[in-house]
Amino acid sequence: MKKILIFSLVMSCSVQSADLEKGKAKAEQVCKTCHGMDGIGIDSSYPKLTGQFADYMEKALKDYRSGDRNNAIMAGFAATLSDEDIENVAYYYSTLKEQRLTDLIVK
Ligand code: HEC
Repeated sequence: MKKILIFSLVMSCSVQSADLEKGKAKAEQVCKTCHGMDGIGIDSSYPKLTGQFADYMEKALKDYRSGDRNNAIMAGFAATLSDEDIENVAYYYSTLKEQRLTDLIVK
């Protein structure tokens, strides 16, 4: 029974194709200055990314890149990102809230 449970957990994790480590590295490299590593902006003019859905952030970043969403600051950064970068970094920020909730439960 335990084996089946572990197996299904592993399977459900591997469905997610985005790479958390690469996303984190990209956040550190590019996004940290404004959005922070914890996804909380350095001041209120930077939107909070913590706990935001990955697909919402993916869409926002692709829209900045294509010009469908117009913002001079984000357009410049989104332009440097590949589809894969976007997927990874959006996944990274989307996991932050869950990690915190888990921390609370463990403590
Ligand atoms: C120089 C500062 C700066 C950097 C660096 C930066 N951002 Fe932003 N970001 C902003 C600002 C300002 C906005 C709000 C733009 C707007 O009003 O549409 C924003 C908006 C966003 C949004 C939309 C949020 C929402 O609620 O709709 C996402 C997603 C986002 N940024 C992700 C990123 C990611 C991922 C990176 C790194 C690859 C990054 N940003 C780098 C300043 C920055």
